[in-house]
Amino acid sequence: MKVIRAKDSCEAGAFAAELIAAQVKQKPVCVLGLATGSTPLDTYAQLIAAYRAGELDFSCVRSVNLDEYVGLGPDHDQSYAWFMWHNLFERINIDPHNTHIPDGITANPDAECQRYDALIASLGGVDLQLLGIGPNAHIGFNEPGDAFIPETHVVELTDSTISANARFFASVDQVPRQAITMGIRAILQARKVVLIATGTGKAKAVCDAFWGPVTPMVPASILQLHPDFTLVADDDALSLTPSSN
Ligand code: PGA
Repeated sequence: MKVIRAKDSCEAGAFAAELIAAQVKQKPVCVLGLATGSTPLDTYAQLIAAYRAGELDFSCVRSVNLDEYVGLGPDHDQSYAWFMWHNLFERINIDPHNTHIPDGITANPDAECQRYDALIASLGGVDLQLLGIGPNAHIGFNEPGDAFIPETHVVELTDSTISANARFFASVDQVPRQAITMGIRAILQARKVVLIATGTGKAKAVCDAFWGPVTPMVPASILQLHPDFTLVADDDALSLTPSSN
C-alpha cells in the first residue's frame, strides 16, 4: 500500500486527479471505475479543469460506476446517475454511451447485477478504480458483514450509511434502503485502486481498514491485499493512524 498524504481535501483531490490523469494519458482507451459522494468532488473538479485546459482527452475513456440506489432513476437528483452526469460527464468530452452505472429502476435487480458483472468483464475489467470510504469502512456499498461478497449484488444499507447519506435527502425516511453495488471481486481485480479519505469523520475507518486486520466487518481492509493500492488521505483522515502519533 502506498500512502499519499495531503494537507486538506482540495490537495487530496489534486493528487487523486493526477493519478487518474496519468492513467488516461498512458492508456486513452482505459476503463475508469468511478465513485460518488462528497469525497471525489474535488478530484472531478480538477479533472474538469485539466480537460478545459486542453490537457486531458476523455473521448476514448469508458467508465463503470460503483453503485446506484434501488428505486432512483437518472432523473432523480439524488441518484448516482444524476450525480455523475452533473458533476463530471456533462463537463468533459466522455461519450455518454461509454458511461455505465447500475440501473436503479430495473424491474429485476438480480438480473441487473449479473448484467453489470458481464459488462465489466466485457470491457476487460477496470484499469483504475477510484473509491471513497464510508464512516463504517464500506467501499461502494459493500457494507460490513460476515463475508466479502464477490459479485455485484443488491445490498440492504446499514443504519450508519442511511444516516450518513440522509444529509442529501429532505428527511432520513427518503433515503433508499437498498442499493446495487459492484462487488469486491471487480474492485480487487482493478489494475490500480485509489481510495480518497478526507476529514476526521473518516479517521477511524482509515485506521481500522489499513492499520488493522483484514476482515469483512471492515470492508475496505481487503484493499491491503491489492498489489497496486494507493491511499490518498488528508491529515485529518490520517489523524488516528499509528504514524500520526
Ligand atoms: P462521502 O461518501 O464521500 O460522501 O463521504 C463516501 C462513501 O460512502 O463511500
